Amino acid sequence: MTVRKPVVLITGAGGEIGHGLISRLAQGTSRPIVTLDVNPLDPALTPLVQREVTASILDTSALDRLLSEFEVDLIFHLAALLSTRSEFTPVMAHRVNVEGTLNLLEFAQKQAESHDRPVVFMYPSSIAAYGLPDVETKRRAGRVREDEWATPTTMYGCNKLYCEQLGRYYSRHYKQLAAKTKSGLVDFRAVRSPGLISAMTVPSGGTSDYAPEMIHAAARGEAYACFVRPDTQIPFMAMPDGVDALLRLADAPRERLTRTAYNVGAFNPTAAEIQQVVARAFPAATITYQVDAKRQGIVDSWPADVDDRAARADWGYCPSHDFTCAFSEYLIPTIRQRYA
Ligand code: SER
Repeated sequence: MTVRKPVVLITGAGGEIGHGLISRLAQGTSRPIVTLDVNPLDPALTPLVQREVTASILDTSALDRLLSEFEVDLIFHLAALLSTRSEFTPVMAHRVNVEGTLNLLEFAQKQAESHDRPVVFMYPSSIAAYGLPDVETKRRAGRVREDEWATPTTMYGCNKLYCEQLGRYYSRHYKQLAAKTKSGLVDFRAVRSPGLISAMTVPSGGTSDYAPEMIHAAARGEAYACFVRPDTQIPFMAMPDGVDALLRLADAPRERLTRTAYNVGAFNPTAAEIQQVVARAFPAATITYQVDAKRQGIVDSWPADVDDRAARADWGYCPSHDFTCAFSEYLIPTIRQRYA
């Protein structure tokens, strides 16, 4: 049998996390990168990857072809429909977010069985996995732990929470009644990401999008009407820390991990606090509020802050950007340069 070099597979590679992740992986490791996305990759990224496959995660024949061609020992399964978009097309969201993830878990299981070694399966879950009933409860709850308030109100949140469970099933109980159990071959690890803010890309279809949209609009000299109230508060994180969290958890020794899904926090400003920093950096910015009560309801159901002690203790999670430094050292200078 020919010896093949193990590769890393990234689904949804053309999305926001994919952008940051591909650049980081390409700098750091010699492991070739294979990408899968419904859309062609940004041409700036193509030289960094060994193979770019343009197909859906629902296309099982594309996955079968990948299976026959590559030995994959690490997967970053990033493809998903975000929370706002998912509310308009819940059935489609379920198909992509849940059936798509199931396809990838099966893919990982087959990879692991045929090479007889575990495949690390990295999954970005979300603060959307939480659902608090009202703003007063949210205020009282403060920093929520992973096992609290697991009652999401959105299709996307339900999908994320269920896929964490699916991942745990593949890791620990897969085909538990078979004569020879094959569980333990998919090494599933999830990070519950806060709203991610990238200086390089603007998200689409999410509900935490007001923060990145406000910053990018100001830098482009465009007026922005924020769709949530000024006092709205949820956790956010600079994209480099979001990528770093995934890479760090992927590298952590299995025996150190006590959970399937980990909270990771960085800062949790109100919309008004974000507006103030943005207005200081771009004094010509016009930022107003035009509250969309329904999207506000979604953000109000997400926690104001998360308790990330497990991530810090188990795998040394430690973000490099707090609120001030995320803006002064990463977002503002990089965005300025981007639109210069
Ligand atoms: N940023 C995501 C969204 O708004 C939450 O994980 O849907």
